[in-house]
Amino acid sequence: MKKFLVIGNPIEHSLSPALHNYWIKSNGIDAIYEKQKIVEGELEQLIAQIKKKKIDGINVTVPFKKIIIPFLDELSVEAKNTQSVNTLYLKDNKVVGHNTDIIGFETSINKSKYDVFNKEVLILGAGGVVPSIIFALNKMKVSKIKVSNRTKEKAEDLKKIFKNIELIEWGEIPNFDIIINATSVGLKEDDNLKLDFSLIYGNKFFYDVIYNPSETNFLKIGKNAGGQTLNGKLMFIYQALSAFNIWHGIKPTVDENIIKLLDK
Ligand code: ATR
Repeated sequence: MKKFLVIGNPIEHSLSPALHNYWIKSNGIDAIYEKQKIVEGELEQLIAQIKKKKIDGINVTVPFKKIIIPFLDELSVEAKNTQSVNTLYLKDNKVVGHNTDIIGFETSINKSKYDVFNKEVLILGAGGVVPSIIFALNKMKVSKIKVSNRTKEKAEDLKKIFKNIELIEWGEIPNFDIIINATSVGLKEDDNLKLDFSLIYGNKFFYDVIYNPSETNFLKIGKNAGGQTLNGKLMFIYQALSAFNIWHGIKPTVDENIIKLLDK
């Protein structure tokens, strides 16, 4: 039986096992996908398990997406350019780090039918998933990417990787077509970003990386302002789908059951 893991800290709330095990079962694959809470000191030993073929693949989540990099033999172009890894696999006896958050984000936007070409984007936050979002948006040829983060230094670190982004002071809301909440504010039902969106109206696109709760206060504001809204559910599903495809060589279907699994 093949073994797969998602590692992070915290990890209790991860829905990756539910998603992967559903697809493993529906495709008749002899495998199991589990979650494991780890500390940084365990990374090396876990990666060695992939080399020994004791573990067949690992998903990596907060806070290890960047700090895992020095322990890996090889990075995909996507992982290298974002300095962010969420999927590990063995290729030619080398442990490869790849990033499927990029394709997850890109697919979610494509499914929403919103045309991002030449649009101005404001990203709130500078955490683990933001390099992937910027990489995807550049690939999709938006006209401008603005980033605003409460802790300015973290936004400045992003600018070292992505020279074309513009940094915005936290609290300022410049003009945008698309606004993305990539902060963790909203994970609790009554969380509020405390930003002034009063001048925002019309044809704007509000995207929240959070999918649980399915409608954060941020998305409620977007809806009330007459904008289009999307939560992070499709991004989560499609990053998992891409990892599944790498490990099993199968593109699983995204059906209603999958959507329901994540509504828990
Ligand atoms: P990490 O920063 O470890 O990668 P993350 O969940 O990916 O974790 O990122 C959390 C993001 O939410 C960060 O951008 C964080 O801002 P700081 O860099 O200033 O910490 C942001 N965030 C969390 N709580 C916030 C709050 N109350 N107000 C504004 N931003 C907040």
